[in-house]
Amino acid sequence: YLINGELRTWDGPTVDVLSPVCFQTKTGLERNVVGSYPVTTEKEAQQALEAAVQAYDNGRGEWPTMSIADRITCMQHFVGKMLERKAQIVNLLMWEIGKTLGDSTKEFDRTVEYIYDTIDALKDIDRAGSRFKIEQGIIGQIRRSPLGVVLCMGPFNYPLNETYTTLIPAILMGNTILFKTPKHGTLLHYPMLDAFRECFPKGVVNTIYGRGANVVPALMQSGKINVLTLIGSSRVADSLKKMHPKSNRLRAVLGLDAKNAGIILENADIDLAVKECLLGSMSFNGQRCTAIKIIWVHRSIAGSFLAKFSEELNKLKPGMPWESGTQVTPLPEQQKPAYLTECVNDAVGQGAAVINEGGGTVVGSYFSPALVYPVADGMKLYREEQFGPVVPVVPFDSIEEPIDYIITSDHGQQVSVFGTDTEQIAELIDPLVNQVSRVNINAQCQRGPDTFPFTGRKDSAEGTLSVEDALRSFSIRTVVATKD
Ligand code: G3H
Repeated sequence: YLINGELRTWDGPTVDVLSPVCFQTKTGLERNVVGSYPVTTEKEAQQALEAAVQAYDNGRGEWPTMSIADRITCMQHFVGKMLERKAQIVNLLMWEIGKTLGDSTKEFDRTVEYIYDTIDALKDIDRAGSRFKIEQGIIGQIRRSPLGVVLCMGPFNYPLNETYTTLIPAILMGNTILFKTPKHGTLLHYPMLDAFRECFPKGVVNTIYGRGANVVPALMQSGKINVLTLIGSSRVADSLKKMHPKSNRLRAVLGLDAKNAGIILENADIDLAVKECLLGSMSFNGQRCTAIKIIWVHRSIAGSFLAKFSEELNKLKPGMPWESGTQVTPLPEQQKPAYLTECVNDAVGQGAAVINEGGGTVVGSYFSPALVYPVADGMKLYREEQFGPVVPVVPFDSIEEPIDYIITSDHGQQVSVFGTDTEQIAELIDPLVNQVSRVNINAQCQRGPDTFPFTGRKDSAEGTLSVEDALRSFSIRTVVATKD
């Protein structure tokens, strides 16, 4: 634990972290224990909360009153320490969540770049804040001030990048933090605990671990959390928000559920559509909030699209995450293969087929990618966010069908449209961008570059991330004014 600037060793009960990477043993495929984390009880959670509350001290603490320039210096020091620990963090990321070495390295590099971009954006904010505005006889200095104590919870699929894209701007804006690491993706945060301790005043960052359901409700009910930031499910976010006794005073910065659609128009370049939809649906085994989770294809080209997609899907190489060329890796969520099997069986039971070789086979915690066609309303795969390597495809005759699907969806993150008729695409942009927060043309859905606004409509998000947007999300504009 890092609580109140102290690194505490723990001799209480722990939870073993099982790597999704399986090895063949005499008794079958087994997962390795790669570490453990403490079972946080209410006692440690309250201590961590009190440490954050005290460090903020109603806005009078060292950190919330420190100049932006000095906070930036602390953060630069922190990134330096992060770079020194790169190999260790990347290795843990790979073992803990089964992300390939290449993608784990990208996640690390992208996060460092994000921190530098955020520092640059904050320098601009600082420059703007140091200027005075004179209007109607009033001289005012317009600043950005912190909000208080932030409860920060990141996801398992990008446990470093997505966590830090909320944690870092929250820290930089002068807030103090209660940081619950993701259930899968905790160990990789250990190497940075002493860096948090050395680079920031005590109590600015405090950690808790394990199942949120055990300790987070009491934290929310305390009323001492000013900002809830969670990358996870809308169901959990809703219930946590309701637990706060003064929920009108709580700010929420949330990245939630998504069911992004790919739409392949009849004039699409099929090779390009296959390439981008494959990347979109299968990168990190489909475990990205931004993944393409359903593909609508015009019936006239469905046959050729499916044949090509299936051929490319069969070529994806399963393997150990550290082996070069590996594209399919084992899944960290132990129950996931069973859930995916249930989704595929449900579709097959209602008339769909798995049309690629080996589709849907479970080996250890690997799930061999499945292309399922034709998916229709009423099947689980039509609306549920599968978050795994299963690609449901729906044929359409009129563009109104996928548009109506998007309009009636509870999700509103992104969509990808593939076609060569630029006028037709231009006409689709407004109806689509008024439903989702990003429309990709002849390209997969994705968050990056991280400087672009990242949000969603409906149940997909609350608040906006990116660089400047995240700094805004974790602060409030304030004014210091006097008469001329
Ligand atoms: O899971 C959500 C991630 O932020 C996705 O990022 O689209 O760049 O993979 P990405």
